[in-house]
Amino acid sequence: MAYETIMVEVEDEVALIRLNRPEALNALNSTLLTELGEALTEADRNDKIRCIVLTGSEKAFAAGADIKEMAEKSYVDVYTEDLFGASIEPMMRLRKPIIAAVSGYALGGGCELAMMCDFIICAENAKFGQPEINLGVVAGIGGTQRLTRFVGKAKAMDMNLTGRFMDAAEAERSGLVSRVVPTPKLIPEALSAARKIAEKSTVATRTVKESVNRAYETTLREGLLFERRAFHALFATEDQKEGMAAFLEKREAQFRDR
Ligand code: HXC
Repeated sequence: MAYETIMVEVEDEVALIRLNRPEALNALNSTLLTELGEALTEADRNDKIRCIVLTGSEKAFAAGADIKEMAEKSYVDVYTEDLFGASIEPMMRLRKPIIAAVSGYALGGGCELAMMCDFIICAENAKFGQPEINLGVVAGIGGTQRLTRFVGKAKAMDMNLTGRFMDAAEAERSGLVSRVVPTPKLIPEALSAARKIAEKSTVATRTVKESVNRAYETTLREGLLFERRAFHALFATEDQKEGMAAFLEKREAQFRDR
């Protein structure tokens, strides 16, 4: 499928989705968000894709929502169209694992988009921030909520109130990203992580997503019960039999998503 603002490549069961509005540092305008939603929905549906990597350019993952596009909107406009509410639905519904590979700026909606992925691998030049305060607004798709859960209240308040940027080392120290790699190694590292995930049983990787995400939405006791029941349920799969047999027979498992 040909897109105007993103590029999609599929290789070795991994879809690499690249945000591609270099003239605006990948600012998230309505075309880009619509196209990204379509590409994610298609990747989730396509049996040949088992993991997704979302990235931008070396200079910017995304510099936020497109300020030009929203500057003149009124409260009634944004409330009526539920600005950004509908456009993030495909990402919220995504069941396959998705890794954000962040180089350069991940600001405002760009930082929030990265946080909506299952985890973030970033380059040494990455800069994260919620600078909406400088525009007289606040974050709109998770910058005060997900960021607070990921890095804690002190840093989330600091970033949302001052609008300062966090560099890669601080992001790793704070738990916002899982790995920092030299900038040229970002895409190879993210693709290699994605291929490793693609080798697993899809039933199990989806269950991991559901279980880890549950940790953010419920009590520890309920979360542990959910996890244990999910663990039990996987004993109904052929992939559990294959995975354990392969270990005992000292060979690689061949998962069939059954
Ligand atoms: C529209 C943007 C943009 C944005 C950059 N550009 N960010 N256009 N929306 N968010 C455009 C610039 O206007 C410029 O276009 C071109 O990209 C290059 O940007 P420069 O500013 O010239 O680059 P540089 O000096 O390197 O500075 C980079 C930067 C700065 C620090 C990232 O661009 C910046 O501060 N951008 C805004 C970041 C921001 O406030 N993000 C939050 C947005 S609100 P021209 O045509 O002039 O060359 C938000 C709300 C989220 O995200 C709500 C939920 C989604």
